Formats: sequence, structure tokens, C-alpha cells
Amino acid sequence: MRTRFIVGNWKMNKTASEAVAFVRELTRQVTDCSGIQVGLTPPFTALHAVRETLGPASTFLLGAQNLYWEDTGAFTGEISGAMLKDLGCQFVLVGHSERRQQFGDQDAWTHKKVLAAIRQGLQPILCVGETLQDRDSGQTDVVIQRQLRAGLAGIGTPALEAVTIAYEPVWAIGTGRAASTEQAVPVHRMIRRTISELGGSDTGRRVRILYGGSVTQKNIADFLVSEEIDGALVGGACLEPTSFATLIQVAIGSHPTTA
Ligand code: 13P
Repeated sequence: MRTRFIVGNWKMNKTASEAVAFVRELTRQVTDCSGIQVGLTPPFTALHAVRETLGPASTFLLGAQNLYWEDTGAFTGEISGAMLKDLGCQFVLVGHSERRQQFGDQDAWTHKKVLAAIRQGLQPILCVGETLQDRDSGQTDVVIQRQLRAGLAGIGTPALEAVTIAYEPVWAIGTGRAASTEQAVPVHRMIRRTISELGGSDTGRRVRILYGGSVTQKNIADFLVSEEIDGALVGGACLEPTSFATLIQVAIGSHPTTA
């Protein structure tokens, strides 16, 4: 049984002091994440403040939105996995479509970033997803399989089992137009098949696959009805404490009813 995972991707939002106020209110509203995991990914500049506010024993997991693949060196402006680990991060996003589209993150880089995260004991969440053009031209599976095979190349078990995949169709991100479960589920199945091909069927069964793209407290239950969908990567709806707290409560109460 895979533990469901709800991750808030803050993107470039909240100063450190705003982050502290947010986390105080969120943890006042959500005192128990029973049965699921919840992760927060503040910007780099707020990670320390959020770690301190959560405290070492918090049930909320702390993650970063990106990392560089070298551990130290002359890489002006970059942040390494070692630095994130030292700040108390437990996981890190890799290859978000905004990184791929706006900052040149390419498959070869996501691979090095996944390897660096694993080396530092951080759980990578590898983000994959097709553009509308890919989908309309029937290339969804080709594009996502390429992103998976490149990002996860050569990673054997058990390291592969520590990786989480986030399926985020680019056309659903920030548009208010979430994929339907009928659109998402076949892609999740294809991703799981691909992971099984890479790491064997046991690994394929254990890796978590999240959905992301316009997830809100209103539609999260629709996704979690499917046992193919192991949680969500949430953008806009994670930025306000009450909406994210509601989303978490709905996720705690949602159980899969379909295969
Ligand atoms: P939205 O939930 O705002 O569509 O963002 C999704 C996302 O990119 C999460 O990583």
C-alpha cells in the first residue's frame, strides 16, 4: 500500500516572514496528517525559517523546488543537495515544467539532479508532463516516457523506489483546467508500466505517482478516488492556509474506490 502524498509547491511566493505566518496558521489548522504525508516546498530563502517553525518532529515534510547536481564549487547562484539536506529538507522537486520551459532544464540535467538528490539522501520528485501540442499530436506517451527514461537512467532498486513521479500536464498548470480523471488515469498507468520496465514490477508497484495541475480543495477527491493516483502536487491552492488545510483534510478522508 502506497502512502498518499500531498505536496504544496509554493513556486516563487512568500518571503521568509510570510512563510512563518503561513506555517503557523497551517499547523494550527492541521494538527494530524494521519495516514498521508504532506510536504511543503518554500523558496530557498524561506527553508530555514519554515524548518524552525515546523520543528524537528513535525509531521509535515520539508522540500525544495530545485537543486544543482554538484555538491560544492564555482557555480554562482546555485544550491546543492548537500545544502538542502543540511537545512533539514527531506525531498526535492526535479524537472518541474516551469524549470524545463523557462530555465532550460533538459532531460540530461534532470538525470543529474535526480542522482544528486539520491546521493544526498533527498527523495526526488521527478516532474513529467506533456504540452497541449504534444497531447493534440498524440505524443503524450512518447514525451513522458522520454522524460522518465532519461531522468531515471541507470537508477536501480532500492534507490528507484525512493523516487516519486509527479505527472503534471503542462496545459493544466495554473490554468484552472485540471485534467479529468479519465485523462489522468491512463497516463498514470503508462508511467507505472514504464517504471516496472525500468526497475521491475515490485518497484513499479511501490513508486508513488502524483497528479499536478489546477488541483484544488474542490477537485482533489475526484483524483483520489482512483488507486492509480497517489496524491497531488498543488500550486495555487497551497498558498492560502485555509484552502490548503481543507485540501489536506479532504485527502485524509479520501479512499480509492476504483482500480
Ligand atoms: P497549479 O496547482 O497552480 O496549477 O500548479 C501546479 C503545479 O505546477 C505544481 O507543481
